[in-house]
Amino acid sequence: MDTQITSAINVRYSELAESSCCLSCGGAINHSKASAGEVCVDLGSGRGHDVLRLAETVGPEGFVYGVDISDGMLQKAQKNAQKLEVTNVEFRKSDLEQLPLDRDSVNLLISNCTINHAKDKQQVWNEVYRVLLDGGRFVVSDIYSLQPVPDEYRDDPVAVAECWAGSVTRDVYAAQLEQAGFTDVTILEESDAYEKGAIEVVSWTILGYKNPKVCSCHSKST
Ligand SMILES: C[S@@+](CC[C@H](N)C(=O)[O-])C[C@H]1O[C@@H](n2cnc3c(N)ncnc32)[C@H](O)[C@@H]1O
Repeated sequence: MDTQITSAINVRYSELAESSCCLSCGGAINHSKASAGEVCVDLGSGRGHDVLRLAETVGPEGFVYGVDISDGMLQKAQKNAQKLEVTNVEFRKSDLEQLPLDRDSVNLLISNCTINHAKDKQQVWNEVYRVLLDGGRFVVSDIYSLQPVPDEYRDDPVAVAECWAGSVTRDVYAAQLEQAGFTDVTILEESDAYEKGAIEVVSWTILGYKNPKVCSCHSKST
C-alpha cells in the first residue's frame, strides 16, 4: 500500500481511537448471524467493539481476529479486551491487502467502513476469498461512489483516510467481487446517496459466500 496513505490512516485513526464518535457506515455485525464455535475476523477492527461482540457470540470454542493498521486503534482494542477479560480474541496489525490469516480458515468475515481505504481493493477481495472456508461468508458495510472519484482526490492521503476518496463506483465494486470469486452477492442495506468530502456516496451492507453449496461447519484451524 502507498506509504503516504498508510501514514495518514495511522495518524487519523490513532487520534480517533480515544474518541467515541461513530466510525461505521452500516450494520454489518447486526446481520452477521455468528454461531457458537465459529472463527471470525473483522477487517478494520478499530476500537475492537465488533470483535468483542462476536467473541461473546462464538463463545470459548470460537475465536475472533481483529485486523487493523492503526497503532492507536490496535492499542485501544487490546485494552478493551483486557478490561473485559475476553480471551478468545487477537488483534493483528496488517494491511488488508495481505491478511495475516491462513487460507481456508475463517467461517465469517465482517468489516465496517474500511475496505474503501485500501489502495488495491481487488487484492483485498482476493484475500477475503482466500481466507474464507468453503461455505464461509462475508458481511461487509462499506461505501461506493456515485461517480468515479476525481483524479485530484483519488490519491490524496488525507481524503482517502477521511473515508471517501478511496471509494469506487457500484459497477467497479461488483466487478471486483465477481473477479475475486463471489457470485450471488446479496445487498442487505443500501442508503440514499449523500455527500461525503467532495463527492456523493452510498453506504451499503453486502453478504456473500465462498462456494455457497458447501457447509463451513468447521472451527479454528490455526
Ligand atoms: C472508519 S474506521 C472503522 C472502524 C470500525 N470498523 C468501526 O466500525 O468502528 C476504519 C478502520 O480501518 C482501519 N484501516 C483503514 N485502512 C486500512 C488498511 N488498509 N488496512 C488495515 N486497516 C485499515 C483504520 O485504522 C480504522 O481503524
